[in-house]
Amino acid sequence: MTDHIVKDISLSEYGRKEIAIAETEMPGLMALRAEYGESEPLAGARIAGSLHMTIQTAVLIETLVELGADVRWASCNIFSTQDHAAAAIAAGGTPVFAVKGESLEEYWDYADRIFHFEEGGANMILDDGGDATMYILLGAQVEEGQTSLLDNPGSEEEVAFFAQIRKRMKESPGWFVKQRAMIKGVSEETTTGVHRLYKLMENGQLPFPAINVNDSVTKSKFDNKYGCKESLVDGIRRATDTMMAGKTAVVCGYGDVGKGSAASLRGAGARVKVTEIDPICALQAAMDGFEVVTLEDAVKTADIFVTTTGNKDVIRIEHMREMKDMAIVGNIGHFDNEIQVAALKNHKWTKIKDQVDMIEMPSGARLILLSEGRLLNLGNATGHPSFVMSASFTNQVLAQIELWTRGEDYPNEVFILPKHLDEKVARLHLDRIGVKLTTMSPDQVEYLGVPAEGPYKPDHYRY
Ligand code: NAI
Repeated sequence: MTDHIVKDISLSEYGRKEIAIAETEMPGLMALRAEYGESEPLAGARIAGSLHMTIQTAVLIETLVELGADVRWASCNIFSTQDHAAAAIAAGGTPVFAVKGESLEEYWDYADRIFHFEEGGANMILDDGGDATMYILLGAQVEEGQTSLLDNPGSEEEVAFFAQIRKRMKESPGWFVKQRAMIKGVSEETTTGVHRLYKLMENGQLPFPAINVNDSVTKSKFDNKYGCKESLVDGIRRATDTMMAGKTAVVCGYGDVGKGSAASLRGAGARVKVTEIDPICALQAAMDGFEVVTLEDAVKTADIFVTTTGNKDVIRIEHMREMKDMAIVGNIGHFDNEIQVAALKNHKWTKIKDQVDMIEMPSGARLILLSEGRLLNLGNATGHPSFVMSASFTNQVLAQIELWTRGEDYPNEVFILPKHLDEKVARLHLDRIGVKLTTMSPDQVEYLGVPAEGPYKPDHYRY
């Protein structure tokens, strides 16, 4: 029986070739295969994975499988799947449900399918953005009569989400509560998903321990920053072929993703302005040489707008009405609510190609909207390069091993991997790029009071 939904299984050979290339760029994951392949610490784990189904994720999935896990997978965004990667994973026998350009209804149907293992429900979640976790937790709350949200969904997303919960409740009453009880832990990939987990913890609603992978230094200070530095401009170029040098770009937000995005645009020769709400990040942007402005100040003159905030309603309809003809508007934050796309729905849309739309404003000015406001580096390009994703995903695998093998030791709170593992992840990536570490002399070890083998920094150090 085929237990997958992919665009075209005949793409698997192409996917397999690209996976083989990616493996040469993902030394962290390959080292974990060598270290743990035999002992299979994930044997018995049934992992429901919800994370962009790319070539890099294929290497992650195959690492989890090699470490003994059973895995079922869906993408965490309707536009981020690389169909050849999904095909290769399906052909390898791992159930995957992911199609680039899937509908919202399909998205939530696929999110449901990742929990249905032959042996029973999933006992682990590997999440990116928190949708798989929220599906189970909200479904269980609805079953327990703790929430009435189901009666008044707002956005298209919510409508599809609640419809799927309703469908599952009808088909298998009590399923969500049972499935929730089976979960031993969740590892979460991104800033936005981590926010959701901390909120759950604060409200006493986190029913299992969670590992915040995002805040490993070797994740957020690398993937969010250096990853976006390469993939932001890649997305804009593949979508528009616009000349970036000399153009004015506005980056909303100067956190890790904003820093990478601003650097990306500057590297392409754009004149970059930044908006921020946080005085520390605003000061950082200014001292990195960017003009810090309000969106209102820059909206009429800029050519390219990118949101990176994880916040909602950052670029609003009143801003888009002011933009000049052929301004490019896109988002690289996790969710599509950073730009008020819904407010554009009654305007004239012309589809240029998949994930690129031209929208006519009442003034006659046209906007180029990327990926309908969903994260453009994955919608319009192929996301971050393998090497940086190796660091992120090595943290993911270590988090899954920790939760699966020692989950009972953890209370139902959100944790970060210990620093010695963070340093281990970095260490595994040095050889590939020819980095030579300096070793301290015994005198230096004593003088600094830092162990020769690390950890080298206290937990409060910020990098
Ligand atoms: P962060 O918290 O480090 O940075 C966000 C920044 O936006 C903060 O400095 C905040 O002060 C600022 N901000 C908030 N509201 C604002 C507003 N109204 N105007 C201007 N600035 C505002 O978060 P991080 O790690 O940079 O992540 C940002 C988003 O990107 C999250 O949704 C995250 O999940 C996502 N992400 C996307 C990736 C991708 O490949 N597309 C990769 C990693 C993260």
